[in-house]
Amino acid sequence: MKITFSDTAKADIVAFVVDQGAKLPEAAQELDETCGGLLSEAAAADRFKGKTGQQVMIVLPGTCQARRAVLVGGGKAGERDARAWEKIGAGLVKSHAGSGFKSLALHADTPENAAAAAGGAKLAAYRFDTYFTRLKDEDKPSLETLSLVLADDAGAKRAFQPVDADTDGTALARDLMHEPPNILYPAAFAKRIKDLEGDGLEVEVLGEKEMEKLGMGALLGVGQGSVRESQLAVMKWMGGSEGEDPVILCGKGVCFDTGGISLKPGPSMEDMKGDMGGAAAVTGTMLALARRKAKANVIGLVGLVENMPDGNAIRPGDILTSASGQTIEVQNTDAEGRLVLSDVLWYAQEHFKPAAIVDLATLTGAIIISLGHEHAGLFSNNDALAGAITQAGEGSGETVWRLPLGEPYDKLLKSKFADMRNIGGRAAGSVTAAQFLQRFVSKDIAWAHLDIAGVAWRDGEKDATDPAWASGFGPRLLSQWIAESYEA
Ligand code: BES
Ligand code: MN
Ligand code: ZN
Repeated sequence: MKITFSDTAKADIVAFVVDQGAKLPEAAQELDETCGGLLSEAAAADRFKGKTGQQVMIVLPGTCQARRAVLVGGGKAGERDARAWEKIGAGLVKSHAGSGFKSLALHADTPENAAAAAGGAKLAAYRFDTYFTRLKDEDKPSLETLSLVLADDAGAKRAFQPVDADTDGTALARDLMHEPPNILYPAAFAKRIKDLEGDGLEVEVLGEKEMEKLGMGALLGVGQGSVRESQLAVMKWMGGSEGEDPVILCGKGVCFDTGGISLKPGPSMEDMKGDMGGAAAVTGTMLALARRKAKANVIGLVGLVENMPDGNAIRPGDILTSASGQTIEVQNTDAEGRLVLSDVLWYAQEHFKPAAIVDLATLTGAIIISLGHEHAGLFSNNDALAGAITQAGEGSGETVWRLPLGEPYDKLLKSKFADMRNIGGRAAGSVTAAQFLQRFVSKDIAWAHLDIAGVAWRDGEKDATDPAWASGFGPRLLSQWIAESYEA
């Protein structure tokens, strides 16, 4: 869908935001007069109260330029922030994308709000139909352009630039998540990352030989049951001042998680193609930063593996030696994400001087039990970092909720035969997973871990901004956090 900004509305459908409890807005007066008061009549209709998201559609007479007018509830005027405008834009696209009409114009007020509405519209227009070969025309969206109408259209175009970049990041993360696991295996994912050099990222990909030299026995252990080669991809965006320590983003990229020898049950196993959601979030964020030319130094690291049962797969009872030198007794081969991340986190500290490390992973089913699908779980050794990420979550709508870390949880990782085991038992599964990761992060580095297993994908009822299976959680949150913490 093409998005434009203009100071005049010319479209098949014209939409106006109506304040809760109020009459027709100023911008709609002229059209209302030319169509004999149809709009004010609709605005006064009994059930139309202007509540957020409420819509009423008016068929316009042939004498009008537009074919339809839409009144959209905007909620209380004083409470209408950029996120509310995002919802308005998304709701309009959701309702009219398949209407048969090609263009929609929405009257907005400030450049920031117009940009937010455009961002919401873009998120709502997302589709992944790569593998449908028999789509009928009526199953395809008809809407081709959305224009935001306001006096300062040039200002809105400028304000949209970073929003556009961030939502490109979301779309890339969604695409990567949706790709089937026979297509997006580790080397194919790495190739997709390599292609981002065209956007100005510097990319390096390490294969199994290189990782063996680095002693990455934990990551390689997970991948050893797969015929697909494990990969570590490094993406750099150095848009900040020279010599400034980089922020490091680490992602769990398990392209498919069968559980390994500790095989998962059959129902919904196909969802485990999304177990690379952390890596998708990091990759999408790097694209967003490059496209909006962020003034920050950021490095993305993703560990890409496939967790398969096989004659060569790791067994429960195996002891792996991680790159840090610490040994791990594998008690459950389905707790593989932490094994992958332990070596990626170690790499981040050995090869760079991180200003902060944030890792993202679809790490535990337990986080869905704790927080459902509403917030990502946040764990951190640093209150300022945790606060900044929480705030960026509120601002971007990709919210997080902090959970504790502490020595009593760490103790649960004790092994009889090695430095630690890879599971902590039934209690506090997301906390012990985070505790495991913390053992690979030096105490003096600000570190945060986001468990995104509950928010990376979702079946069932969804927000208009999140129309498909994968949400693409991460890029909008991380881009906003980086903007607020490192570019302000
Ligand atoms: N990828 C899963 C976690 C997951 C579960 C993500 C559901 C999304 C939805 C992870 O690798 C895993 O299997 N974790 C185990 C850990 C357990 C064996 C300690 C889990 O959560 O059951
Ligand atoms: Mn697993
Ligand atoms: Zn997993």
